[in-house]
Amino acid sequence: MAARVEWKPAAAPVCKWSGGKRQLLPHLIASRPSRWRRYLEPFVGGGALFFALGQPDSYISDTNAELINMYRVLRDDVDALVEHLGRHRNESSYYYAVRAQDPAHLSPLERASRLLFLLRVCYNGLWRENAAGQMNTPFGRYHNPDIVQEKSLRAAHHVLKTATIAESDYRAVARLAEPGDWVYLDPPYAPVSKTANFTSYTAHGFNWADQEAMAQLVREMGQRGVFVMTSNADVPAIHDLYHGLPIQIVPARRAINSNPAKRTGITEVIITSYPVS
Ligand SMILES: C[S@@+](CC[C@H](N)C(=O)[O-])C[C@H]1O[C@@H](n2cnc3c(N)ncnc32)[C@H](O)[C@@H]1O
Repeated sequence: MAARVEWKPAAAPVCKWSGGKRQLLPHLIASRPSRWRRYLEPFVGGGALFFALGQPDSYISDTNAELINMYRVLRDDVDALVEHLGRHRNESSYYYAVRAQDPAHLSPLERASRLLFLLRVCYNGLWRENAAGQMNTPFGRYHNPDIVQEKSLRAAHHVLKTATIAESDYRAVARLAEPGDWVYLDPPYAPVSKTANFTSYTAHGFNWADQEAMAQLVREMGQRGVFVMTSNADVPAIHDLYHGLPIQIVPARRAINSNPAKRTGITEVIITSYPVS
């Protein structure tokens, strides 16, 4: 098992995000290189490690346009975002009206405020999209949720101030990362079920061929002196894919299921292109 390191985070994620890494944070930090230059995180999602590190001049990216727009607005005009979020109401009909808005017809500020509002009051706080890319999580019915969360937004704004934020595919990082940089790749995970057919599995647009291509990129960047770290499901296919690189098995969120055979996701793996001390 990998070590845990307690670390005073510079900031925390401003919203919940599917696959968020808050629980793995002590293990991710323990797996850092002994020293590095720039920090790059091209599947940023909620950005648990990015915000915890708070390193100036970092690079973050994601393919989710609404998420990336929100980070840009939070970086460039936190006051306007705080003010705009304060206008929303925790009411079911209002929620569904905002959810139905077409982001293409909104300003960047309105889009950022919409995303955070929906995430603050939706069921389970998780962004889910239908096949047409529309957010479809139902209303959460929470009593008095804190929709603005001003303190957390301002701490995150401080970390984002010097960040480069891109809406792009993770592969762009291969051109940007230089020897000595630290790149954390946290892709949508491979399936955990023993019966899963890896070759036909796709989650969030990421299929097994994408896992293979990404593993290739991890090796290539590692060979040119970039410190690459990636996390994934603790399944034999992932161990095979990264064979020869240091792989640590770490405890993860324990999925609740009364049937032990179905309790998946108990461990995950952290793979590095460099030895972890
Ligand atoms: C497992 S989540 C990352 C979670 C993040 N580490 C956190 O702490 O919240 C994976 C992210 O990758 C994004 N994504 C999916 N395919 C991508 C691609 N080809 N390139 C870049 N980002 C992608 C998704 O939008 C999602 O936000």
